[in-house]
Amino acid sequence: MNILAIETSCDETALSIVAASGELGNISFKVLANSLLSQVALHKEYGGVYPSLAKREHSRNLAPLLQKTLVEAGMFTETNTPLTRDQISELKKLLDREPELFVLLIAFLGNIKKPNIDALAVTAGPGLEPALWVGINFAKALAIVWDVPLIPVNHMEGHVLSSLIKSDGITSIEFPALALLISGGHTQLVLMNDWSEYKIIGETRDDAVGEAFDKVARMLDLPYPGGPEISKLAGMAREENLPSPYTLPRPMIDSDNFDFSFSGLKTAVLYQVRDIKEIKRELSEIDKKQIAREFENASAEVLLEKTKRAVQEFNIKTFVLGGGVSANKHIRYTLQAHLPQNIDIYIPPIELTGDNAIMIAAAGYSTLISNKPLPKPEDVIADGNLSLK
Ligand code: KG4
Ligand code: ZN
Repeated sequence: MNILAIETSCDETALSIVAASGELGNISFKVLANSLLSQVALHKEYGGVYPSLAKREHSRNLAPLLQKTLVEAGMFTETNTPLTRDQISELKKLLDREPELFVLLIAFLGNIKKPNIDALAVTAGPGLEPALWVGINFAKALAIVWDVPLIPVNHMEGHVLSSLIKSDGITSIEFPALALLISGGHTQLVLMNDWSEYKIIGETRDDAVGEAFDKVARMLDLPYPGGPEISKLAGMAREENLPSPYTLPRPMIDSDNFDFSFSGLKTAVLYQVRDIKEIKRELSEIDKKQIAREFENASAEVLLEKTKRAVQEFNIKTFVLGGGVSANKHIRYTLQAHLPQNIDIYIPPIELTGDNAIMIAAAGYSTLISNKPLPKPEDVIADGNLSLK
């Protein structure tokens, strides 16, 4: 079956079309089209994601991006197919809060033949609710006009599956499996005893690791998003073999649980920066590189230690990494090199570490075949705090 997936949980507008078939554990999966529009340049000015701006951009971009995606999949056929009066009034009600999207979508849908799409998958949460709603309402409008089922997807399930997506299918893994999800909003260790079964065994008690990267970057006067900037400076410190004059804590590394805390680490950087400024007024480029490397080391060590312990405790056979922070080279290397070598380790390709719609299609298809009951399209809602279960 062909699935059109829609992702608008944060600052990327992403659409994909995939052909998927088979059962859980034996899924064949082929990407027919993939589009992504990043709003990072716009949000940079605010030093972070600005929700109402994200919502506006999604509303503007979804219809043109859909056209591009359908063209790429070879599913775009222009014909005059005016919507019925009932359809128009239903869509008008649905897109009451996205008038710009309504106008663009009516014009677009009245101009194309129904594409060969069998189901829609849309991110329902977690994320920024105003941004999530745009994607959900867009998906509902397409579900009405094309008369296809709508699958609400948990964004974090997408991040879990992203390292298992291969060019011809979704890799079959051995259970129990453990996922470490590290993103701008989450830091979680998730136990999987089977496909589509998730149990959060540990998570951050305060900041997410990506959030800490972004905040520390701001303290070092680096632009948003800070993760890649910190990573770049830390890499230079390693390459140049700079000495290590600064030491940061490894919060909760010895605590007898699988939880994390990154707020204290972030505050330790704040104090360190303040102390340096008291002596020298400004941070030098070398100070920044050294702090970035120490912060990255501290984060990676805590992530590794807790993951290692969970691998042992739950007799884990497969480890998967996911989320935007898994683009970090040092964290990837640390986990790959230091987790027990008798388990299978899956690290996502860089292009699937950040938010994308391919992972939403994968999670959507898994949800569909897991026989969990689907809500009626009108009952699908955005849930900013949606949790894996
Ligand atoms: O998964 P994602 O794209 O969005 C959320 O669902 O949150 O993750 C975004 C986060 C941001 O905090 C960003 O700074 C971080 O991932 N990130 C990185 C790197 N690339 C992105 N953090 C560390 N190193 C990187 N190379
Ligand atoms: Zn994400």
